[in-house]
Amino acid sequence: MPTALVTGASAGLGRAFAKVLAEQGYDLILVARSESDLKERAEDLYRAYGTDTEVLPADLTTDDGCAAVTSRIRTGPPVDLLVNNAGIGHERPFLDTGAAAEERLLDLNVRAVLRLTDAALSVMTARGSGSVLNVASVAGLGPAWLSSTYPASKAWIIAFTESLGASHQVKSAGVRMTALLPGYTRTEFHQRAGIPTSFPPPWLWLDAERVVRRGLRDLAAGRVLSVPSLRYKVAAWGLRHLPRPVSRLVAWDLSAPAHS
Ligand SMILES: NC(=O)c1ccc[n+]([C@@H]2O[C@H](COP(=O)([O-])OP(=O)(O)OC[C@H]3O[C@@H](n4cnc5c(N)ncnc54)[C@H](OP(=O)(O)O)[C@@H]3O)[C@@H](O)[C@H]2O)c1
Repeated sequence: MPTALVTGASAGLGRAFAKVLAEQGYDLILVARSESDLKERAEDLYRAYGTDTEVLPADLTTDDGCAAVTSRIRTGPPVDLLVNNAGIGHERPFLDTGAAAEERLLDLNVRAVLRLTDAALSVMTARGSGSVLNVASVAGLGPAWLSSTYPASKAWIIAFTESLGASHQVKSAGVRMTALLPGYTRTEFHQRAGIPTSFPPPWLWLDAERVVRRGLRDLAAGRVLSVPSLRYKVAAWGLRHLPRPVSRLVAWDLSAPAHS
């Protein structure tokens, strides 16, 4: 049985990853802060698919949390697929959030992805097999949110994944990397961040399981970037190719009076 390690596996996209991978016959290592939620997920997956699941509670904004996961990747039984999914956003504009909260966002969205990917690639390239799927966002392709570090953190994931995934060192070792760029997806993300869900309109919201299935198909097909759904492929094209002043005009501005 191949083994997949999924971060942020207790809710939203991570929970959907765990379900779809269990369905596909993977054994699982589930990471998030809430041990009780992870145990519940593990029991559900055992009942539904007979999945062998390891629960690894860790706060990935901390050195100790990252070390617990990298140590499992480096020294435990082989991990065939790493899904760096855990991530957060803030609802308030940059100057109101405070540097400490912004740094926590970067610790989770960027530093943890760097550390876990480093551990995974070290063992996978030495072994000559394995895959890493990093969850970014369409928002990382351009100035989609103003007064926010979130798009910058996701831009880093996209550039990082493309840079390593297309490199000789990773490709010649038979290791695959994909950055998954979802658009608005129904999860707990917006609720947790305090971001209103009245925008965008219902037709723009994606289903978490469909996003996950697309991402895994694109990873299997060797695509470095995966943008689920035609709607967001169009949005991604716009963010990449429209002149930046035009995309800035239609961006979601957290500091605008409408959001206060
Ligand atoms: N939903 C969207 O519209 C959307 C769109 C584009 C990209 N994304 C990206 O998709 C990924 C998953 O988001 P989601 O929408 O599924 O969010 P979600 O429903 O809020 O789930 C977030 C998961 O991350 C875990 N987590 C949060 N802080 C953590 C920490 N410090 N250490 C370890 N785990 C932590 C949470 O569990 P605990 O609280 O128990 O730790 C939970 O399992 C994120 O990277 C997000 O940026 C989401």
